[in-house]
Amino acid sequence: MPSVTNASGPIGAEVRGVDLSGEVDDALFARLRDLLHARGVVVVRGQHLTEADQVAFAGRFGSLQKILFSEHLVPGYPELFLISNVVEGGRNVGNTDAGRFWHTDGAYLPAPHRISMLYAVEVPHRDGRPLGDTVFTGMAAAYDALPRATKARIAGLKAIHSLVHRYETKTGSPEDLVARTRKYPPAAHPLVVRHPDTGRQCLYVSEGYTTGIEGMGEAQARELIDALCAHAVRPEFHYRHRWEVGDLLIWDNRQTLHKATFDYLPAERRLMRRATVSGEAFA
Ligand code: OGA
Ligand code: MN
Repeated sequence: MPSVTNASGPIGAEVRGVDLSGEVDDALFARLRDLLHARGVVVVRGQHLTEADQVAFAGRFGSLQKILFSEHLVPGYPELFLISNVVEGGRNVGNTDAGRFWHTDGAYLPAPHRISMLYAVEVPHRDGRPLGDTVFTGMAAAYDALPRATKARIAGLKAIHSLVHRYETKTGSPEDLVARTRKYPPAAHPLVVRHPDTGRQCLYVSEGYTTGIEGMGEAQARELIDALCAHAVRPEFHYRHRWEVGDLLIWDNRQTLHKATFDYLPAERRLMRRATVSGEAFA
């Protein structure tokens, strides 16, 4: 039987004693899916997953996102890509840049990604401790904790989320990458979304992608976005994931933000395989 331990904050749960390789029965899948909806982030420890296992398990949650930027694909698996600092033959094997800012995956799309999952192949360690933690914040708890006046003020507002903006203002992005991001025009989403599975209200805004608010002047919008972002990333809403090789970390993009920690050196290898479940526009 699986053992499930909730983290101390409003999000995060750890599962041990299950094997997600090969066939995963319906009862176990339903249990993990329900846990993900309840806790926003779930780590299943101790896995040994092939690429095919990961694609098959991720596909139980919905249709998988074919990857937008193709240089870090896993050969033969267009639904997987690599996040890594590993260099082979003078070339990065994976995306080195994921999660520099608080964000939620695919917020710049009209139908943002529903769920993402990373499988840890290599985790850097120093003095016996893992490096490169991924930190999450719970956006349902963040919404609930807003002052009543703020909830009233933001009800019905829509925010603009832009990938183009992020790349255009980032120094050091290769020009061809900047050009390719222009294919993804900014998308508008409610500032408060109703989570389709839990029914809870979640704040939907991020440091990484949110650039404006429909119908609001730039300065005023910036001030509101910054205040909401600062509120959302308060530590009491966090789950900090300390990686172990063999972790499958699954998160729900509709109710969390996440951010990577770049505390490891180029020689300290980190290699993660990601699968992404497509989503739908918010109601
Ligand atoms: C991602 C991401 C952060 C990390 O894969 O979407 O933001 O810690 N990753 O690798
Ligand atoms: Mn991400």
